[in-house]
Amino acid sequence: MAAPMSTSFRTHTCGELRAAHAAERVTLSGWVHRRRDHGNLAFFDLRDRHGITQIVTNADQAADAHAAAEPTRNEWVVQVEGVVRARPEGTINTELASGEIEVAVDRFTVLNPSKVPPFYINEEQAGLDESLRLKHRYLDLRRPALQERILLRARLSGAIRRTLEAEGFADIETPTLIRSTPEGARDFVVPSRQQPGTFYALPQSPQQLKQLLMVAGYDRYYQLARCYRDEDSRGDRQPEFTQLDLEMSFVAEADVMAMVERVALAVSREVVPDRPILHDPIPRLTYDEAMARYGSDKPDIRFGMELVELNDVVRDVDFRVFAEPITSGGAVFAISVPGCGDYSRKQLDELIDLAKRHGAKGLVHLSVDADGALHGPAAKFLAAHEAELLGATGASAGDLVLIVADADRVAAAEAVGHIRLEMGERLGLRDPSVLAYVWVHRFPMFTWDADGQRWDATHNPFSAPVPEDVERMESDPGGLRAQQYDLALNGWELGGGSVRIHQRPLLERAFALMGHSVAGMREEFGALLDALEYGAPPHGGIAIGIDRWAALFADAENIREVMAFPKTQSGTDLMMDAPSSIAVSQLDELRLRIVEDD
Ligand code: AMO
Ligand code: AMP
Repeated sequence: MAAPMSTSFRTHTCGELRAAHAAERVTLSGWVHRRRDHGNLAFFDLRDRHGITQIVTNADQAADAHAAAEPTRNEWVVQVEGVVRARPEGTINTELASGEIEVAVDRFTVLNPSKVPPFYINEEQAGLDESLRLKHRYLDLRRPALQERILLRARLSGAIRRTLEAEGFADIETPTLIRSTPEGARDFVVPSRQQPGTFYALPQSPQQLKQLLMVAGYDRYYQLARCYRDEDSRGDRQPEFTQLDLEMSFVAEADVMAMVERVALAVSREVVPDRPILHDPIPRLTYDEAMARYGSDKPDIRFGMELVELNDVVRDVDFRVFAEPITSGGAVFAISVPGCGDYSRKQLDELIDLAKRHGAKGLVHLSVDADGALHGPAAKFLAAHEAELLGATGASAGDLVLIVADADRVAAAEAVGHIRLEMGERLGLRDPSVLAYVWVHRFPMFTWDADGQRWDATHNPFSAPVPEDVERMESDPGGLRAQQYDLALNGWELGGGSVRIHQRPLLERAFALMGHSVAGMREEFGALLDALEYGAPPHGGIAIGIDRWAALFADAENIREVMAFPKTQSGTDLMMDAPSSIAVSQLDELRLRIVEDD
């Protein structure tokens, strides 16, 4: 790193000097991270993004430098010149990469003073108001912990680019002023000045554009694409985010999955070499399997505690809570939680609340005593089935069995799935160092829209059905599986994609089920529909959320922690103060008028 980092202001960075540099004359520039005064001696930690180096001014040996350093405070930008020397025995700092040396400074120049920052840069400040951090994000971003995460993200994008280019992908940019299209979320729109009364939309993803690039013959496209969705922020969601977007031609589902898998594992090994990868190859679960075993389409497979279906065990019990859902085609799902049979009333109530928040109508809890007998409010209904229930759930003495029944099979599984995650967390089973990738594929192609009385695409209307299902398209739309795959990592949805429908006749059949004519869809998907009629190759792709990937690599709970300039929950940029009102002249030019609230 040495040579390229030297500039007119420095010979080395603040992270570079080691014992081997002793006796060298060096120039450093950086921020005052911390200062300690001992009268005639002053110690400064000088910081840049590469590290921290201790410098010393000595009034007896270099009076001018010592005097020049006197007024400096934290976060002042300074330049120093001096000689590297080994630190005396006993003052070596093993926490610091440069901890074996210090620089004895004989020239000290203030490049720029700093006001007292509104919060500490050199230490974590507990209870600090997050909005203060976001308002002064440029100071927040100076904090070494945040710098580390932002730079981790930069290494992630670098690794992605190198890996994909080696696999023959070409980086092609697509516009961000496009036409508003239905893609699930609400569009952000931009008014046109040249054509007053009309609007561009910001892309929710480059989906149609990348498919058009396939029609145009650009097999293996990729882009780190900015995407915009006007939806409420959450820990893993921002209105503006970045996708690794890619698309390939002449591929089947297995080709795309194999490619993405290769890239994901290579990138992980390069960017976070210390994080063990739980499974290579990445396991593949069908959607049905993922729901039945984990109650989630983005399962956290770092631990077991898998769901079991109890329909056959409890079918005949005289307990309305179980019998009714089974009779109406639903399911009873359970997990066995090791060693939690002694949970208190309060702890159980918390779990019941949690299940209800995730859509369950209730939660049956049974503890297994030392003799293998079941205890709990519903135990009396199950007395005749104790052995079967223990056999099915694998529960034994001291364990807690948690059960949800629902006429909606998926709802029952999902509620238990959330309880499973909570119990995994409480029992420390979600090892934060491990990377557990898992594929979930063969999602249902259509879901029934009861309000609209029509089938609706589960993912997007261009996802292709599994080839062997095509003939059942009209006879069993609900049972049709799509060539759609999601990549999950440690319980987060990391990415999703599909093989697309590239032939017009199949697309017309899908549209017909969704209650649309091709002519009607042309209004919404104009160019892409036309393009499919000019020799579209078979193609498919995926998009992976970079913000989520970086957050998972950084072990951060919120993607804000890996975004340089994120927005708040309410979509505000506190630093730039956006969104903001605009001048009346701008509105006039766009021929827009603001309607005031009454
Ligand atoms: P999808 O909508 O599943 O697919 O998005 C792909 C991935 O993008 C990330 N993501 C987000 N990250 C942060 N904030 C958000 N608001 C947000 N929304 C989505 C997630 C998600 O898995 N065009 C298709 C892809 C394709 O079919 O090729 C698409 O956008 O990590
Ligand atoms: P209830 O008869 O509704 O008071 O329910 C009796 C017990 O069954 C209570 O402990 C409820 O929490 C539980 N329960 C109710 N509905 C369900 C359900 N759908 N799945 C699991 N447990 C339930």
